[in-house]
Amino acid sequence: MLRGWTKMNDRLCGSLFLLLLFCQCIDSEKLKLCVVETVHTAKNIRRFCPQLDTPQNSVECVIGNDRFNCLRRLTTGTADFTVLEPEDLVAASGYREYNILVTNELRLFRAEKERFTMVVLVNKDVKSIWNLKGKRFCHPGLDTTDEWTKAFSTYFDKWIVTKECNPEKTLLEDRMFGLSNFFEAACIAGPWSPDATFDNKLKSKYRNLCGACDNPLGCYSDDKYHGREGALLCLTDNAGDIAWVRLDDVIEHFKEEHINKDNYNYLCLDGTTRSLKSTPCPWITRPWPVIVARTEVAEKVDKMMTSSTQQHSTWILDLLENYQTTPVSIDSLETPEDFLVKFSGFMSANNRAKCRPSRRVQWCVASNLEDRKCRWLREASFVYGVEPSISCKQESSRAACLRAIKNNQADIFVALPQELYEVRKMGLETLVQAVPKKANQFDRIAAVVKQDSRFKSFKDLRGARACFTGYKDVGWYTFLSILKNITGGRPECSGLEAVGNFFAESVVPGLDDSQETIPSNLHTTAGNVGDDASAFRCLESDNGDVAFINIKNIQKKIGNLKSEPQDDHPNNTSYRTLCLKDSDEADVCTLAWFPLNAVVVHENLTEVRREDMYMMLLEMNDLFGTTFKGQVPTFSMYGTYDNNSNIIFSGETQNLQMDVHQMHTRSYKDIIDHLVKQSPCSGSRNTSYLYGYIISIYVLIHFLKELLHV
Ligand SMILES: *[C@@H]1O[C@H](CO)[C@@H](O)[C@H](O)[C@H]1NC(C)=O
Ligand SMILES: *[C@@H]1O[C@H](CO)[C@@H](O)[C@H](O)[C@H]1NC(C)=O
Ligand SMILES: *[C@@H]1O[C@H](CO)[C@@H](O)[C@H](O)[C@H]1NC(C)=O
Ligand SMILES: *[C@@H]1O[C@H](CO)[C@@H](O)[C@H](O)[C@H]1NC(C)=O
Ligand SMILES: *[C@@H]1O[C@H](CO)[C@@H](O)[C@H](O)[C@H]1NC(C)=O
Repeated sequence: MLRGWTKMNDRLCGSLFLLLLFCQCIDSEKLKLCVVETVHTAKNIRRFCPQLDTPQNSVECVIGNDRFNCLRRLTTGTADFTVLEPEDLVAASGYREYNILVTNELRLFRAEKERFTMVVLVNKDVKSIWNLKGKRFCHPGLDTTDEWTKAFSTYFDKWIVTKECNPEKTLLEDRMFGLSNFFEAACIAGPWSPDATFDNKLKSKYRNLCGACDNPLGCYSDDKYHGREGALLCLTDNAGDIAWVRLDDVIEHFKEEHINKDNYNYLCLDGTTRSLKSTPCPWITRPWPVIVARTEVAEKVDKMMTSSTQQHSTWILDLLENYQTTPVSIDSLETPEDFLVKFSGFMSANNRAKCRPSRRVQWCVASNLEDRKCRWLREASFVYGVEPSISCKQESSRAACLRAIKNNQADIFVALPQELYEVRKMGLETLVQAVPKKANQFDRIAAVVKQDSRFKSFKDLRGARACFTGYKDVGWYTFLSILKNITGGRPECSGLEAVGNFFAESVVPGLDDSQETIPSNLHTTAGNVGDDASAFRCLESDNGDVAFINIKNIQKKIGNLKSEPQDDHPNNTSYRTLCLKDSDEADVCTLAWFPLNAVVVHENLTEVRREDMYMMLLEMNDLFGTTFKGQVPTFSMYGTYDNNSNIIFSGETQNLQMDVHQMHTRSYKDIIDHLVKQSPCSGSRNTSYLYGYIISIYVLIHFLKELLHV
């Protein structure tokens, strides 16, 4: 806006009127504060944002969905300032073209220059860094919080134990193996991996890393020696010789517990030790959260932030994600990089040793938007220490991505449910599935018929009219698997013929795209794009007797569905679902559930590679999924990307899971396996003709039977 006016001003500099207007415009220009709305912050936003727009403050809120989104808004000028965590600044410092400056630190107390500092404490028998091997190590744990990231939890041990990059071990195991060999014992209590099975496996393999815990067999988060205070107790109880701890905790601990300081020393980066009574030697320090602003308005923001604390309300501060803070001006406004280098270790924590050959995961993306979102996921994962790191590889189409995985030119791709049959046929497989929050939000295919229809089972459907949502989509293949059971044939080898022979008529949107010969009793629809609503309309308007639909998308339309005909208690339910087994008593019978997305990989991955990628995805899910730590997320991998939803992952995703247990219905994955597993459909012409012939006889017999009954 401002820039637009400046240009206009240049052009029309003779016009006094416009000049006046321009000046007025600057005066009334409000500063736009980007705030991230989450369940934690929504209340404050509603309460404080309206109040900020005063003559003194004149601040207008704009709402972002994560901190990276706010950062991007600064660069596009749709916001002027925002609050970032130091990790976000690292990501921002990679984009030099971003014209943003750090204006204020949000300190808890004015005099505290950093959020916290990590130090290494050793008992007095440890004389230097060359003395550490075979000692006992007290570690607060690997479970992350919003400020205790992996960069912090692993900083010291990465310094002393170098990566071996053993190709037989996952990156996590490689590190635990290194620690286990280096130290005689340690207490690293709490989860090492977000997956409990892998966690137990590692812990039983490297038992000595729990050996110094209060309960070595448990090694749980509630261990006496777990956490910030726990690591200090571990040292001063003499369960360990070395402790990786926060400096503020050290000072507090020695004051409270009246422990003799002479028995312990600081271990310094240069390898020497130093008395607890002298200046501490920091390993890595964490900066405070900061306010960053567009360069053009940085000074104005700084003035407002420092004046508003002295005079006016602390509304801005209350609003800023509950930081109970004191804004402190940066001496001279600084770029993110200049600001960060003042904190020892913080930037260098991001220079991590790499393995050769590289363990990096190539993530295939099929559009510019996916690529952009992927790059931010890469940045976020990197600064939070997720391993292995990723790179984004853009292909021209989704099909090209699948081919890239098959040809080992990319490692993972987030596939849509309707792609899963093709995925399986190409020899790719699902690593994890994206699932929604509640069981009733799962996508499930059902065979819906009218309440009063004569169809009671799938066998009855022979000769009926069917409504599909689309050719070769989830409903299509789900029906083929049922057909396979009913007929004992191989309908997957020629789906069109099988369906054409079974049903009298079928509506199948999307048929025109197929190269195959289409039986004359299969019809496509105008517009040719199918969805659940159109398949339901087909049933509703009596163009079909049965519709294979994702019931999640039609439930609102028709209310409760019943599986049984309601002869004795007719009520308003006018549709019901068909069940596979007569004994099914569920309210609604479903044929298969399918995930929102599936992360797919090559089927012949090594076990190590598979585990590495699985762990990486789980870590990303924990940090950037719906369970992010802290008040607001750095980056939301399932959320919108600059107002675009469902980029890479479905916006409904709650979780990524390897095994999903939906007790009441089969998984579409199993259905596909059931269809694809057998030998390929060779000579399909002949067998399918034969097959069609057999079906015709079936139909004939069926009709004869009915005739005889009459
Ligand atoms: C995986 O390995 C098997 C056995 O070596 C091979 O037959 C199959 O084609 C491989 N899968 C892919 C997708 O390359
Ligand atoms: C098909 O038959 C097999 C074996 O009887 C059974 O396990 C499976 O659940 C059946 N599938 C369907 C869709 O009925
Ligand atoms: C329909 O009637 C049955 C039997 O009386 C009852 O259990 C069910 O709740 C009714 N459904 C609706 C939607 O009213
Ligand atoms: C059907 O629903 C309407 C309103 O939803 C209700 O007034 C009516 O009593 C219902 N009829 C039966 C047979 O349940
Ligand atoms: C996103 O949408 C909102 C409202 O529709 C709009 O105000 C905002 O400018 C959009 N942001 C971007 C980055 O397009």
